[in-house]
Amino acid sequence: MTETAFSRAQAFEPPEHVGRNPTIGEVIAARRGRRDVLKVALGVAAVAATVSPLALARAAEVPAANGMRFRFPELAAGVDERHHVAEGYDAHVLVRWGDPVLPGAPRFDPFAQTAAAQKRQFGYNSDYLGYLPMPGAANASAHGLLVVNHEYTNEELMFPGLVRQDAKAVAFADMTRDLVAIEMAAHGGSVLEVKRENGEWRVVAGSRYARRIDADTPMEIAGPAAGHPRLRTAADPTGRKVLGTLNTCAGGITPWGTWLTCEESFHGCFSGKLADDHPEARNHERYGVPGNWYAWGKWHDRFDLAREPNEANRFGWIVEIDPFDPASTPRKRTALGRFKHEGAFVLVNRDGRVVVYSGDDGRYEHVYRFVSRRPYMPGDRVANADLLDDGILSVARFTADGTLDWLPLVHGAGPLTAANGFASQADVVIEARRAADLVGATKMDRPEGIAADPRTQKVYLMLTNNSRRKPDEVDAANPRAGNAFGHIIEMTPPEADHAAARFHWEILLRCGDPAIAAVGATFNPATTRDGWFAMPDSCAVDHMGRLWVATDGNSAKRTGRTDGVWALETEGPLRATGKLFFRCPVGAEVCGPAFTPDDETLFVAVQHPGETGDSNRPSTFDDPNTRWPDFRADMPPRPSVLAITRRGGGRIAT
Ligand code: FEO
Ligand code: CA
Ligand code: CA
Ligand code: CA
Repeated sequence: MTETAFSRAQAFEPPEHVGRNPTIGEVIAARRGRRDVLKVALGVAAVAATVSPLALARAAEVPAANGMRFRFPELAAGVDERHHVAEGYDAHVLVRWGDPVLPGAPRFDPFAQTAAAQKRQFGYNSDYLGYLPMPGAANASAHGLLVVNHEYTNEELMFPGLVRQDAKAVAFADMTRDLVAIEMAAHGGSVLEVKRENGEWRVVAGSRYARRIDADTPMEIAGPAAGHPRLRTAADPTGRKVLGTLNTCAGGITPWGTWLTCEESFHGCFSGKLADDHPEARNHERYGVPGNWYAWGKWHDRFDLAREPNEANRFGWIVEIDPFDPASTPRKRTALGRFKHEGAFVLVNRDGRVVVYSGDDGRYEHVYRFVSRRPYMPGDRVANADLLDDGILSVARFTADGTLDWLPLVHGAGPLTAANGFASQADVVIEARRAADLVGATKMDRPEGIAADPRTQKVYLMLTNNSRRKPDEVDAANPRAGNAFGHIIEMTPPEADHAAARFHWEILLRCGDPAIAAVGATFNPATTRDGWFAMPDSCAVDHMGRLWVATDGNSAKRTGRTDGVWALETEGPLRATGKLFFRCPVGAEVCGPAFTPDDETLFVAVQHPGETGDSNRPSTFDDPNTRWPDFRADMPPRPSVLAITRRGGGRIAT
């Protein structure tokens, strides 16, 4: 990472009183906020990457117990071809699959798509969104970089004439080398410069920050597994250089202004067979490799296990990218462990060390925490550049008495020894799942989004579902057999110490329809029939300390509603009251909710619009169940990012 103006500009501090004079209440609140900042310096309060004195002050402005803290007219739940947002708000389509990112990108033509075009255009299936204010911007919440993950591809919706391609049903019959190249170019991420002018957001054309990252972008491997023989391949005998990032799901922003993108379902990119007695066979089986979702191995040796058994060990990591330097080389941070990383929530602990929470999105998988060895040095980008290469990775064990123990995954400690196949810390991080199993981590119902409230320090964990959990596998933290609708856990560090060995935890909410007793949902009775949801996935805490939950998996058949963004009360008598704010078109999920520092804009990604899901009718490029967002006969549905703002201005839901 190179030094930029970022460190001097304190890009995470929004300028106070944007565009108007402060009220006396704000002046008082701002003073209170400054005291909170002092507390941070004294090590009393932990502060997430996005918190600011003004944000802390604003928290005090929002009434806590007298009615919901979220003020907006609730949206009606339902299913149709369009997106909907609460009355009084606009949801503007900012960027769509195929829109230009790099200079010279050709106009999007879905009937004549090429890999060369896709490499310069916005990728497919956006997931994580991170907003970084532009250093020196007059209004930090109106000019910044938006970093976007492109998680996966739907060939049946991207390419004319194709049905869903997979290994089992059609043996990738219609896939070609050219189509595979387009898929590989549509994965990864985009860096966009975005500006809000006259109330409307737009992507800045020709920005010097614009970048596309895809499955062929050169990257470095850093941390304890760098250079290890298990990461060496025919193409890279050093084990330190890898091409691309894949299935980038959620992510995070560091306090020093870098983007963490998380490799989730990487196993799907691999095919081919490994001999049962191959040294990597057990490891690959634990990660579901090969997943056979894509035909890439047919044309690229590295994705064929029979030809390249080690390539799969070079995916499943968190990748750190400097979005302010488009020429920088992304680095895979192996100290944070290898698993199906859903996301990476970063905060600075009260002692200055950096803490990263990350869920492993698989049935019966685990929740992890990384604590850096060295503290974060505000303003010193060089000192912070490799903070994530050195620290302690731990995994969570939830106990019925409400304690949560973070069990360190350190080579040589407990069972993590050569006798169990761990010769070094490299083996521990490469096989983090097996290490976690051995130390006794709790097997969870698919851990997805994690976010902390910077005021209370409570950490919210989304567990999306696990319909396979059997009655005899139920435990306190995963209390429902056949958990179809998911739940949310609240984790509380002692005295705001996110590096502590022991937290407390409780279930905040069991999701699902509260009107069906057998579901066992625990929404607050104040929740309306539109306000309940199922399958929590991404989440965000705004700068007023309010939790927003985005879902993945609701449908006409399962819940009588599409996915959406729900506000969720976390405190007071209305705790666990949900309220619907935004919903997406049929077949889609909502990802990446991200607020600007002033909470006036909420960016959301609408992922896989028109996907077949649990409907009986296959939805394809030629006959999709929605043509959102263009609704043109010659356009398939296009995964897109929306900017949601309040008509006439103002903070969202106040
Ligand atoms: Fe990519 Fe677990 O969602
Ligand atoms: Ca997704
Ligand atoms: Ca997710
Ligand atoms: Ca999901």
